[in-house]
Amino acid sequence: MSDAPARIQTPYLVPEDELDRSLRPRTLGEFVGQAPLREQLAVAIEACAARGEALDHLLLAGPPGLGKTSLAQIVAAELDVPFVQTAGPALERKGDIAAFLTALEPRSVFFVDEIHRLARTLEETFYPAMEDGRLPITVGQGAGARVVTLELPPFTLIGATTRAGLLTTPLRDRFGIQARLEPYTPEQLAVIVRRSAGILEVDLEEQGALAIAARSRGTPRVANRLLKRVRDFAEVRMEGIVTAAAAEAALAMLEVDELGLDRLDREILGAICTKFAGGPVGLSTLAVAVGEEQDTIEDVYEPYLLQQGLIKRTPRGRAATRAAFEHLGLSAPAPAESSLF
Ligand SMILES: Nc1ncnc2c1ncn2[C@@H]1O[C@H](COP(=O)(O)OP(=O)(O)O)[C@@H](O)[C@H]1O
Ligand SMILES: [Mg+2]
Repeated sequence: MSDAPARIQTPYLVPEDELDRSLRPRTLGEFVGQAPLREQLAVAIEACAARGEALDHLLLAGPPGLGKTSLAQIVAAELDVPFVQTAGPALERKGDIAAFLTALEPRSVFFVDEIHRLARTLEETFYPAMEDGRLPITVGQGAGARVVTLELPPFTLIGATTRAGLLTTPLRDRFGIQARLEPYTPEQLAVIVRRSAGILEVDLEEQGALAIAARSRGTPRVANRLLKRVRDFAEVRMEGIVTAAAAEAALAMLEVDELGLDRLDREILGAICTKFAGGPVGLSTLAVAVGEEQDTIEDVYEPYLLQQGLIKRTPRGRAATRAAFEHLGLSAPAPAESSLF
């Protein structure tokens, strides 16, 4: 075995679909937080079920791990209709969309994950389908080509996106319900952690739940992953009980700090503060400096750093705030050098 320090994987980028599946809430009642949205959906679901209609098309926006896929599945379950799932990048041709839409049972939920990554040319295919259940397709080629309009069963398109801003206005406008999932409070995350501990049969103390919740960067998926790692640690080192001390020791080992920042978060902040003198620095330059994909920084890391007031977006790029320098134990540049402070 080499004794070089192993690069610890960022907890919330490790694909653990299995974990997501087993811990996914199944009903609106099990879905924690997002109260205004839950209420809105409960009313809409009840009303359209009573009328025997398909639910309005629904757009769910928000960073990864906040519950978009879970909520889409819950909506289908509450409507008691089939859930058919695909993703923007998986739809390559108009025919792919036609194949899905024509095969739907009436009132089904058709879930398109990462809908902002749908090819622009395909977006238009959805317009008439979403508006009045028609799908014009071209059959034949050349001079013999003609347009045939297929009648579609009524359906609900649920689009999920980490970047609502990348959707074109015509597509966005065709969603009758548009929702943004908000980061969760530590109290809500503690509820989620306790529920997950019950399912995973983890012996969890109240203070342990709070310690995990506080460092889960507002994100249920992160909370569940940290719980799993803390459990491993508690089993191997602390007789299996997740106490506050076990949680803190495990999180320290994972290099997750008291704000919930991991190594890459700190590398991003450190690069802005030291390599670029506090910024502003362009996202692409920053991505190269820390050796990470620009999209990952923008979708996964930046929202939390912004929310914590550690970075700011400026017209010329990202800049570190005084709080970032303080968090890293660096001295901030004198106020005269920067207009940000
Ligand atoms: N509101 C919630 N209540 C309870 N658990 C949640 C909630 N939102 C997300 N989770 C948990 O987080 C995991 C990831 O959620 P998911 O719906 O896959 O997020 P997204 O699709 O937004 O990336 C789920 O498997 C579930 O365990
Ligand atoms: Mg998802």
